[in-house]
Amino acid sequence: MSSPVDDLRSRFQGEFATASSDADLKALRDRYLGRKGGAVAALLKEVAGAPADQRPILGREANELKREIETALDEKRAALESSKAPAGAVDVSLPGRRPAIGRTHPLTALRTRIESIFARQGYEILDGPETEDDWHNFEALNMPAEHPARDMQDTLYLKEPWVRGGAALAVRADERPATLLRTHTSAVQIRYMETHDPPVRIIAPGRVYRRDNLDLTHTPMFQQVEGLVVGEGVTMADLKGTLIGFLRELFTPDTPVVFRPSFFPYTEPSADVFIGCQQCKGSGCAMCKRTGFIEVLGSGMVHPAVFEAVGYDPVKITGFAFGVGIERLALLMHGVEDIRLFYENDLRFLEQFPL
Ligand code: DAH
Repeated sequence: MSSPVDDLRSRFQGEFATASSDADLKALRDRYLGRKGGAVAALLKEVAGAPADQRPILGREANELKREIETALDEKRAALESSKAPAGAVDVSLPGRRPAIGRTHPLTALRTRIESIFARQGYEILDGPETEDDWHNFEALNMPAEHPARDMQDTLYLKEPWVRGGAALAVRADERPATLLRTHTSAVQIRYMETHDPPVRIIAPGRVYRRDNLDLTHTPMFQQVEGLVVGEGVTMADLKGTLIGFLRELFTPDTPVVFRPSFFPYTEPSADVFIGCQQCKGSGCAMCKRTGFIEVLGSGMVHPAVFEAVGYDPVKITGFAFGVGIERLALLMHGVEDIRLFYENDLRFLEQFPL
């Protein structure tokens, strides 16, 4: 028959085997060696009530067990202590930190989508300089010197870039100095047509700059995509088909698209393009100013004066062009009300967008 001392010993050994931390050891110490309510204290009390002939043996065994438990707990604590890494040491068993790989900015994602829609239809994707000269940004686009769009109010001009170190640079006509930050990507149309014969089928995405103060719908730098298609027999029907197809692919296949007469110096006729409001689905809300429609694009048939400026024959050649603001599309697409959010680099905002 096993004695109460042996029973307690085997109970302790079972629990001791699984103790693996300072906290486990402390709990065991309290449970077995606690002065009040500890298992050993209870055992000693039991021994005191045992028959007189058994008391001395049981008493000795109980005290032995007490010392065993103390030694076992002390040794294990010392072992745990010595296995701990010294302060400042590297714990090679910790899982590694994941590198922050970042994600595509929602405006870049949208720009890439737009590019792929047109690339699939055989359009070439072009870059152009962000600093421009008067000729490409205005003059060749049928905006002569007195045109209001050239006003200091709207355009960011560079400070006398044709003067360096006090001396005026001698500049050839085909190396015009950049005098301004381009106000639209339409300048790329001119650069391309000057150096390529028709047919033309290009888009030109990129940053543009205007003298606007930051507010809900304006930033002094924003992004556009310019489109230009030129050849023999290009018509307004091509313009309409292209833009309706583009907008319905970008939004939804049943998005209403409406063309309204407009004016741009570099197109005739010109049309503003509207889509049905994505927010209220046409019933009228604050976003669409209760009209059910929102303007997303400027477009038109390339003005003969533009063709003349780049040396194309406006009798043989026709074409259409369009310009679209990337931020504006993004605001509509994602239901965002403040354009500034796209440029504040707050990850809590940026992380909400699908890649
Ligand atoms: N350049 C215009 C703008 O910045 C957009 C635009 C309108 C471009 C009509 C075009 C066009 O090519 O034909 O608002």
